[in-house]
Amino acid sequence: MNEQLLAFFEERKHEYVSGELLSHYFQCSRTAVWKHIQHLKKKGYVFESVPRLGYKLVAKPEKIDAAKIMRELQTKSFGRNLILIEQTGSTQTLAQQQAAAGAEEGTLVIAEKQTAGRGRMGRKWHSPPGKGVYMSLILRPDIPLAFAPQLTALVSVALCRAIRNMCGIEIGIKWPNDLLFNGKKICGILLESRAEDEKLLVVIAGIGISVNLEEADFPDDIRNRATSLFIASGAKVDREKLIANFLRELEELYAIFRSDGFHSIRILWEALSVTLHNRVEVKTGRGIVAGIAEAIDPLGGLVVRKSDGKKTTVYSGEVGFTEAAAKRAQE
Ligand code: BTN
Repeated sequence: MNEQLLAFFEERKHEYVSGELLSHYFQCSRTAVWKHIQHLKKKGYVFESVPRLGYKLVAKPEKIDAAKIMRELQTKSFGRNLILIEQTGSTQTLAQQQAAAGAEEGTLVIAEKQTAGRGRMGRKWHSPPGKGVYMSLILRPDIPLAFAPQLTALVSVALCRAIRNMCGIEIGIKWPNDLLFNGKKICGILLESRAEDEKLLVVIAGIGISVNLEEADFPDDIRNRATSLFIASGAKVDREKLIANFLRELEELYAIFRSDGFHSIRILWEALSVTLHNRVEVKTGRGIVAGIAEAIDPLGGLVVRKSDGKKTTVYSGEVGFTEAAAKRAQE
């Protein structure tokens, strides 16, 4: 019925249609009509409703347009093989399946909506339709397993540069790969890989960007820690252009990484970092490491100087700023 209901509204653009007329036309109760309209609203359709006049369809959910991404693309291979789907559990899973079936490096899977979006540390990634970017890129780096943190840094630098260029906002990278604006998270990156004989054969770089979400689109439990490009910049962002810009940045940096190694990426990362020179507490698998974040090491790990003056490097973990550092960041 939803499809027919939409077609009915499409034919009557800019008109109010009464609940009574709809229930008569579709031979159902007015409560059933109301329920269908609520269902469509959840999918992103916007209706105006006026007592006695009825409902008017005023906006449809925005959809990512694959042809437009292709028009915007300036890459040689990244994104050229594009799989865009309406809904999936996680684009990571779909990309893994594609990689296992032999998909080439640079293949990109995008979903308008994810029902089981995955974040780091077993968390979920909130993935509502029409307003975010949820994508997974297949890389076949064939580099030592120990270089995985370098790739993480590489992806976050490319994303940070693309967003800064496009939206003009000063977002920064919290080690290892969260993108923050004024201390709130805007993007998340999740790298999943398949290694053999200590070599990284396939890496699925999963990127989630809160693009045009409004405050109300975030669930209560993350609203005070998350933000979107729209909230941060005050302007709606073109998702297709953003995807294309990111792929261009990533392809360029990946080529530099392949030919010259991590050195230049590391310098770019350090310049964009909001972690360095702050007092941090890093939750790692082996406990908490506290101290001053001093540098990123040649492998992509975070070098922390502890209170006893000794340095230690962590390669995976979750950075929390101490209260004093958080206060300084607010000033
Ligand atoms: C994080 O915890 O910060 C990482 C979030 C990564 C989310 C993206 S959305 C596209 C891709 N598919 C997923 O299921 N996760 C990643």
